[in-house]
This record gives sequence, C-alpha cells and structure tokens, in this order.
Amino acid sequence: MVSPFILMEGAPVRDRIYADLAPRIAAASAAGHVPTLATLVVGDDPASLSYVRGKVNAAEKLGIASIQEHLPSDAGEARIRHVIDEWNHADGIDGILVQLPLPSGYDTAGVQQTVRADKDVDGFHPANMGALALKGFSPMFVSCTPAGVMEMLAFYGIDPAGARAVVLGRSNIVGMPMALLLTKADATVTIAHSRTGSLPELCRQADILVVAIGKPRFVTASMVKEGAVVVDVGINRVDDRLVGDVAFDDVRSVAAALTPVPKGVGPLTVAMLMHNVVVAAERKAG
Ligand code: GUN
Repeated sequence: MVSPFILMEGAPVRDRIYADLAPRIAAASAAGHVPTLATLVVGDDPASLSYVRGKVNAAEKLGIASIQEHLPSDAGEARIRHVIDEWNHADGIDGILVQLPLPSGYDTAGVQQTVRADKDVDGFHPANMGALALKGFSPMFVSCTPAGVMEMLAFYGIDPAGARAVVLGRSNIVGMPMALLLTKADATVTIAHSRTGSLPELCRQADILVVAIGKPRFVTASMVKEGAVVVDVGINRVDDRLVGDVAFDDVRSVAAALTPVPKGVGPLTVAMLMHNVVVAAERKAG
C-alpha cells in the first residue's frame, strides 16, 4: 500500500510547543519573574521589522515580556555593543536577540559574540554552536529554525536515524546547525551549497532533504527521490507572494512529506525562540 502524502504544516507543531510552554510561563511568573526577551533591530529592513514584530507578538500572547530597541542603520557598533552590554547585565532579561542581517559594514560575528552565551536564545554564539558540534558538550541554546525542523520531523513521525540527509545551504543560522542536529540524530548528512557539483544527483539520494538556499522554487521534482521527506526553509518574496526554495506543486508529486511555505517551518522558528526564552528563565531560577 502506498502511504498517504503528509503535508507538514507548522501550526499543530507550534500549538503543541505552546501548550507545553504556557504552564511553565505561568509558574515562572507566579514565582515572581516573568520570562523576558530583549530584541534589537538595526536599520529598517522591512523583512527584519516584520519578523521581529512576529516574535514580539508571539511573546505577548504567551505572557512573555519583551523589551525592544530599534537603532538607525548608522548607529555604529559601539552603540550596538552598549545596548547588548546593558542587557547582558540586566537581571530581568533572560534572552537577547539581535535580528540579522545587520546593515552592511557591521561586524556581525563580533556583535554576536558580545551577547552572553547564557542569554543567547538564538544559539548563534560560538560557544553554543561549538557545543552543538562537539560530542560530550551540550549547547545552552540551539538555533531556532533548525531546532524547529527537528520538532517538525518528530511531530510527523519521521526519525532521521539511519537516513541519508542532504542539507542545501551552509549558513550559520540554518544549514550548519541543521546538519549538526541531523548528525546528532544519527542521520548521514551531506551539506551542499551553490558550489556543489552534480547537485540534482546528490539531492536525489536524500531520504530527507532540507532546503535553505534562498532561491525561489530552486528544488524541482527531478531533484527529489520518490518518497523523500522535503523540508523547505526558504522564504522568498516573488510578485508580492511568499514562496519557498522548493517548487511545491512539482515536488508534491514525488515527496512523501513536504512543508508548505508559508505556514510550514516559519511558525516554528518563533516557537523555538519562545521555548529558548522560557528555558533561559527556568535555568536562572534554578
Ligand atoms: N534572521 C533570519 N533568521 C533569524 C533568526 O532566527 N534570528 C535572528 N536573530 N535573525 C534572523
């Protein structure tokens, strides 16, 4: 019998994560500390402003407090570091998020390292990313989008153990931590990118294909193995519509499971951020 196609929507996974967090937020608040997230946006990139609004709105709905700072794009690195430094020392702040990308000219890696690793709810600090890569170490936080993908796979009953996984994209935010998480989950992982040769053939070997390459509808059915699980992390604006990195209608005909864009992975990035803020608050409370 052929298994039915699974449309891996994010909402039910997000709802389950929020159902787990709600009583924990209530307990922390009742004990005298409302979990608190501080967000910094530099410049006026519309997508960044919209993403941060989504994060702040989600926090508000859940009862997580948020503090926001919006600096002009020419604020300069010293001012950014000053804001982060204040937040690093503020007892009431559990998590700090610097929305990326920073405007051109800023030393992104330098700014990321300024955030205290135990408040780094994005999981971007080298101490957290390094701990994710090393056996015997546990990161304090894992990058939200790849952590959300792992939640998505678990929710839909997909076990990466023993699977061949291809991660398309090698960014710090998605590709690299995604590959590390899948490796930890006992998949055999290949990281592919724009310079990889024979990309269609490589992708066709994947039981699990995670796509975060930033090119609209890049992955077509001819790049997907029959029965593969395909996770589309891309969000591209084309003719005022949001489309993923996967040609959805085409790939749907061969994949066993596929995430839509929007309403796939997107909600889970925010949900895992909320999860990380709650974990940070609980850790501090001991
Ligand atoms: N820009 C795109 N995704 C993210 C994310 O998960 N965190 C931050 N801080 N910036 C981003």
